[in-house]
Amino acid sequence: MTTSDFHDKQMMRLAFQQALRGWGRCSPNPLVGAVVTDCSGRIVGRGYHRRAGCPHAEPMALDDAGDAARGGVLYVTLEPCSTWGRTPPCTERVLASGVRRVVVGCLDANPAHRGAAIAILSDAGIEVTSGVLEAECMRLNEAFFWWINHRRPFVLLKMAMTLDGRIATAGGQSQWISGPPARRMVQRLRRWADAVMVGGDTVRFDNAALTVRSPANWPRQPLRIVWTSRPDFPAEARIWSAVPDQPPMFAKPTTTTQWLEFLSNLGERGVMALLLEGGGELAAAALQAGVVNKIAFFVAPKILGGRDSRPVVGGASPAALSEAIELTDRQVRRIGQDLLITGYCSNVYGID
Ligand SMILES: NC(=O)c1ccc[n+]([C@@H]2O[C@H](COP(=O)([O-])OP(=O)(O)OC[C@H]3O[C@@H](n4cnc5c(N)ncnc54)[C@H](OP(=O)(O)O)[C@@H]3O)[C@@H](O)[C@H]2O)c1
Repeated sequence: MTTSDFHDKQMMRLAFQQALRGWGRCSPNPLVGAVVTDCSGRIVGRGYHRRAGCPHAEPMALDDAGDAARGGVLYVTLEPCSTWGRTPPCTERVLASGVRRVVVGCLDANPAHRGAAIAILSDAGIEVTSGVLEAECMRLNEAFFWWINHRRPFVLLKMAMTLDGRIATAGGQSQWISGPPARRMVQRLRRWADAVMVGGDTVRFDNAALTVRSPANWPRQPLRIVWTSRPDFPAEARIWSAVPDQPPMFAKPTTTTQWLEFLSNLGERGVMALLLEGGGELAAAALQAGVVNKIAFFVAPKILGGRDSRPVVGGASPAALSEAIELTDRQVRRIGQDLLITGYCSNVYGID
């Protein structure tokens, strides 16, 4: 790796950190961050997309840099837009700024726009480099990219289990299996999600509200969905009252066709990211239907035991080990006392 490659990566990392500042606020737009360096390589501007309708990251960073951008470099995590939306095309702002070079993390996911900005900027004589920290930049917006290309939400299945794969006692007690850092991370996932879904028994046993509670007064609550055919929850259940102006939704897709129809409807409503939070029967139904994109399982250093304790994935027993769903791009991280295992389901409907 050359010194300049190393510098590009360092700057892209800073642009990435800028993008993260919009976490949970930008939907249905992607998270984007940008950094501008002047002609001597010094950082002179930073910006990120704050929320849909607000200026994009590139004009924010270029405004921050002012005249110092002239002859400098713009680093941006996603290819700039080149068409009019709620804001003018960023390519025009980039051309007006006088930067000599643009470094892009990843290309636009929309096949209609993919590479368009690269061509416009290159044709205007700007040096363009793309694909710096590409995998990280793509993963940052994996839900957005999936939704753009498939018109249904990216589905993340998150569960907390003991080392022996249990999520609750036979009587339904499950709080708490994972530790406080893992539970903080779940709040972060709820901020990311446009919709959160649990099984009916999880509402019955946990009195789940499915809201973002941290930070307090968070402005955007996810659409709350319960997977049930009998929403007979008591009048005092938190699911009814937790978000006064937004009642919960009920649905119980089971076959792949039903799931795809259900998800397409959510996609049309602008739901890009759906978080499934269990329990085991909902997990099994979604996995068997082939609609889970990614899993995030927290594994606590505890053994519950018990033949009747509830399993992390319920459903009918498969006939053969070959029916196990393989995971790709696996990662293991330590979160406080727990392990977090993530991976992508190889059986998800719609991938080659
Ligand atoms: N540790 C974790 O991450 C975690 C996460 C979530 C929940 N939990 C715990 O898990 C437990 C609930 O999980 P769960 O797997 O029992 O239920 P669930 O997935 O929350 O809900 C299952 C739903 O499926 C239906 N159902 C119930 N039993 C079924 C069966 N044998 N076959 C087919 N469908 C069935 C019911 O639908 P109808 O409503 O239509 O009858 C029920 O509402 C609770 O104790 C909760 O505390 C733990």
